[in-house]
This record gives sequence, C-alpha cells and structure tokens, in this order.
Amino acid sequence: MSDLIVLGIESSCDETSAAVVKNGRVVMSNVISSQVDLHQKFGGVVPEIASRKHVELIMPVINQSLEEAGVNMHEIDVVGVTYGPGLVGALLVGLSAAKGLAFALNKPLVGVHHIEGHIAANYLEHPDLEPPFICLVASGGHSHIVYVESYNRFEIMGQTRDDAAGEAFDKIARAIGLGYPGGPLVDKAACQGNCEAIPFPRVRFGEGSMDFSFSGLKTAVLNYLHNMEQKGEKVNIEDVAASFQQAVVDVLVENTLKAAKLKDVKKIALAGGVAANSLLRNQLKSRAEKLNFGVFYPRPILCTDNAAMIACAAFYEYQNGSRAGLELNAVPGLKLGEK
Ligand code: KG4
Ligand code: ZN
Repeated sequence: MSDLIVLGIESSCDETSAAVVKNGRVVMSNVISSQVDLHQKFGGVVPEIASRKHVELIMPVINQSLEEAGVNMHEIDVVGVTYGPGLVGALLVGLSAAKGLAFALNKPLVGVHHIEGHIAANYLEHPDLEPPFICLVASGGHSHIVYVESYNRFEIMGQTRDDAAGEAFDKIARAIGLGYPGGPLVDKAACQGNCEAIPFPRVRFGEGSMDFSFSGLKTAVLNYLHNMEQKGEKVNIEDVAASFQQAVVDVLVENTLKAAKLKDVKKIALAGGVAANSLLRNQLKSRAEKLNFGVFYPRPILCTDNAAMIACAAFYEYQNGSRAGLELNAVPGLKLGEK
C-alpha cells in the first residue's frame, strides 16, 4: 500500500496550525502559531481578534508545515480541516484555506470534528493504540467522557452541564491573579500548595451519571476568596490552586473510571488541553493501573490545539469513506457523532 499524506488545518480557537501526517500516525510536521500573547491582556480569547490573526497567519503556517515536512503541495493526498465546534469566524479561516487548496490541487477534502481530533492525538503518541477505549476529553471548551468504539464511532457517556474543566481552570487562575491561560499556571502553583487545605465541593449526579458540573466549584472558590478578603486574612494562592485542582481531578478521574468499568474496556486515554495537567495524569495513572487499565495520554504539545491531531482524525475519516464538498461550512456547535 502506498503512503497516504494528509495536510491538516486547525483554526477553531486561538491557535493557527497546519501539519503533515503520513498514514495517520507519522507526524512529518506540526506548525502551531499561538495567539496567547495577543489575548492575554483581555484575560481570554477575543473572537474577532482571533479571526483576524488567523487570516494573517494561515498561509505562512501552511507553507511552513509543507516545508518542514519536505513535501510539495502536489504530494498531498487529502486535505483535512476542523469545521466545528469552535468560534465561527476562526473556523471559517481554516476552512476557506482548506477548501481553496483542495479545489486548486484537485484533492479530496475531509471535515474533522475538533474533539475527534483531540482523541486522535493519542494515536500519534502511541502508534500501537487502537480502539475500543474510554477517552476523557477535557479542554477550554469541552469536558466529555467518550466511548471510542472504533476509529469512527463515538458515544458520549458523560459531559459537563455548565463550565468546561479548562474554563474553570482559566477563571480560577484569573481570580487568584495568575493570568491566562490559567491551566498550566494553576498546575504549577498547585505543586507548592496543600490540596487538603480547603474543602471545596465535588459535584456528583448519582450512580448512573457520568456528567460534570464545575460552576458550583468555581463559585465556592470565589466565595472563599471574598470571605478571606472581608476578614482581612491573607490568601495562600498555592493552597487555593492545589485544593481547587484536586476537586476538579477527583471528579474527572472518578467518572472516567466509572465509564471504563461500565464498558468493560482495558484502555483509558486522556485528551484536550487539561490532559496536560500533571495531577490528572498521575492520579488517573495510579488509580487506573491498580484496576488493570492501561492509561494513555499525548505529550503536552499534542494535548492542546494542533493540526497533527486533525490530520490523524482526517486519515481515519478518509479511510471510512468521508469526503466533504466545497459547500462544507463551519458548525460552531457541532456535536460529536454528528456529520
Ligand atoms: O484543547 P485546548 O488547547 O483548547 C480547546 O479546545 O479549548 O485547551 C486549552 C485549555 C485551557 O483552558 C487551558 O487552561 C487548559 O486547556 N490547560 C490546562 C493545562 N494546560 C492547558 N489545564 C490544566 N492543567 C494544565 N497543565
Ligand atoms: Zn481543543
């Protein structure tokens, strides 16, 4: 069988990224241009600024990804692109570039669900990993427990009813003055703190449910900070970070293990920006391995938004017969499993 080269394009939020991946598993290049510095002063992603920056960066990033991979445009077999979920203006930039390239090169276009991309990042990190497995996808916009039945079949077993896990990390980081994006900063501060210092709540929805809720936890942290301020007491930032992080990780791990037991799978994977969290990785690994589950997660750069994961997912969608027409549009609220 000859090699299949996929050009992946990702622009759903604040990273402009293009990557070249061979046979779904070999990353030949993965260029990521982050806009974090640009959005930092606003404490979060400003959609209009993100779209404008994507317009400036998309072609240079695509050209760099081809150059680093050492392939020319005509050697690309498939163009894969994120078409949802995400910010509509941001998605449209990557989508337009992908459609233009596919049309000009006369190559097939494959639309990729962003979360499916995050899950696929595990295939890049672990060349032998194959479905079925349970994947906890936790990022700035999503917290889902997904049963990955095959490369193309997904069942959502649990999800957040309000804030996403990464969103909670970002909001708490801002409240304790750590800056943006909050996840890595809370992770770092928590290493110096006591995770049992403050008993923040863990929301559970009963036996059968694997859903999450983080807005009550967020309010509890904000109330704690407010009370301390009113009493004129000094807040230990590291203890708040550690106690908050522990509360998030406890429910993420518990629900993920519940799903794995229910589906009787042998493997559990992590995906999305929050999968870079050191406590989440360690806690899941130690608890899951005691129960004989194999645990998989990508390196941090493959956890956060990148186009290699999109190219990988596009490869498996292409193998399954998926082809998009030039009418493919951005779908900001695209649900996993929807086409
Ligand atoms: O997957 P991603 O790059 O973008 C979305 O699709 O949302 O995830 C970004 C999110 C941010 O909320 C960021 O704070 C969080 O992932 N994050 C982390 C860590 N690194 C990134 N959260 C906790 N601990 C980390 N080490
Ligand atoms: Zn993402």
